[in-house]
Amino acid sequence: MEQIAYVNGEYVPLSEAKVSVLDRGFLFADGIYEVAAVLDGKLIDNESHLARLERSVGEIKLRLPESLARIQEIQKELVKRNNVENGLVYLEVTRGADTGRDFAFPKNDVKPTLIMFTSVKDIVNAASAKSGINVITVPDIRWSRRDIKSVALLAQVLAKQAAAEAGAGEAWMIEDGKVTEGGSSSCFILTQDDVIVTRQNGSEILPGCTRKAVVKLAEERQLRVEERAFSVDEALAAKEAFITSASLFVQAVVSIDGKKVADGKPGPMTNRLREIYVDFARATAV
Ligand code: PDD
Repeated sequence: MEQIAYVNGEYVPLSEAKVSVLDRGFLFADGIYEVAAVLDGKLIDNESHLARLERSVGEIKLRLPESLARIQEIQKELVKRNNVENGLVYLEVTRGADTGRDFAFPKNDVKPTLIMFTSVKDIVNAASAKSGINVITVPDIRWSRRDIKSVALLAQVLAKQAAAEAGAGEAWMIEDGKVTEGGSSSCFILTQDDVIVTRQNGSEILPGCTRKAVVKLAEERQLRVEERAFSVDEALAAKEAFITSASLFVQAVVSIDGKKVADGKPGPMTNRLREIYVDFARATAV
């Protein structure tokens, strides 16, 4: 059966889910998105995703067309209609379709566009969770408000395409000699003296929801966490490296630009944090 999508108040077959060519998301990337995981038919860490959605839209002075509570209801309804057991819910809100192409915000009361769709993905049993992933590095060429989850993703498209062409699963973006983040993930290392290091939040990176949960879960277990920038050399000298995101949870990074991280296999801390995260995800799913 064809997937159902949500478009501005209606549930429609995905092939019929359309927005205007004048939509500002399409013309200017004037929009915000979120991706939440689904496990056993339930939304994972969704409160965190909705809180970040509210913050992102606020930062670009875009008003949500529905309340956060209503948005969650729609997410759940779509998961139900599409029988998603394990996968993702994508949602996007844009500043809507005006009557022409004006850069400044619409003067009239143009209604923001809200769309959602789902996809199926077995995140817990993904092959790359066992094998780990190879990453390449690319210069971080993005704008300076990366804390906003904007749909302007061209730099990440190019970064992840370069990774794909190199047979890698992710690209780590580098600025001033330090790793900012992955094309669609947050980056971590475990130092030789067992400190979990991840870059501090700020306008240089997206505040990852999975990153936030993993840091909290680690600290609750008295694991040492340091929030600071690190270099690729430091990652290559580390015991372990890993990435986090809603679409892969916690996954080991086993090589960077063709050089092995430690013995080139997922390490015990990464595996432990992955288990801890999956337990947390199941326990707090809605
Ligand atoms: N991306 N950094 C960037 C640039 C991201 O795009 C993402 C997520 C993350 C991780 O954030 P979270 O843990 O909240 O998923 C970090 C999503 C999954 C995507 O674009 O598909």
